Amino acid sequence: MTHIAIDGPAASGKTSLGHALAQHFGFLFVETGKMYRAVALGLNRGLALDEVHITMNDAGRILLNNDDVSDILHTPILDQGSSRVATRPEVRQLLVRLQQEIAAGRAVVMEGRDIGTVVLPHADVKIFLQASPEERARRRASERHQAELDKTLREIITRDTRDQTRAIAPLNPASDATIIRTDNKSLAEVVSEVIALVEERLHTGDEAAK
Ligand code: DC
Repeated sequence: MTHIAIDGPAASGKTSLGHALAQHFGFLFVETGKMYRAVALGLNRGLALDEVHITMNDAGRILLNNDDVSDILHTPILDQGSSRVATRPEVRQLLVRLQQEIAAGRAVVMEGRDIGTVVLPHADVKIFLQASPEERARRRASERHQAELDKTLREIITRDTRDQTRAIAPLNPASDATIIRTDNKSLAEVVSEVIALVEERLHTGDEAAK
């Protein structure tokens, strides 16, 4: 089963790339950031951690205690809340297990921070996206219609620092990841570059299996 791992910092384009790849290859798309966001939402609603049950349905929607919360997870409060809960070992353990169960025996494109390093260390293709904080802040502000670019930039830098310095599974490219800088590239360029890479890898795999 083919596994494609996409990692990178906040607003680096992982979701747009992952969505396009999943559609192209007909694989399930798994957005692991949404799982951390859903945990943060549960805690913000006053639930204790052991009352928070995260699942994903076959359409890739994220459920919090059986309630589809996928569309309400992208808020500034949950940006920071998810990055905070993601430092807790018990949360990571729970979600990594869920992500590995989802990927078992299935072709997936999975995006996050630790997919190539921890969740799917044997993924067929590992991509690590990079872009400057300024470029990422511009993209985030425009997709969320946020006028205050400076504030968006500060929030991105706070989250980068937390995600990169946490004790467990800090954001890092896997040693065998292909690093793609996206500052001066369109989404279409990045998508075709990665499709070519995946096809080459899968083809090489076929040849080796003969
Ligand atoms: O990709 P995102 O912005 O939706 O992720 C939200 C937060 O969740 C991110 O700041 C860090 C955390 N996260 C993580 O620690 N590991 C992952 N695999 C995905 C997200």
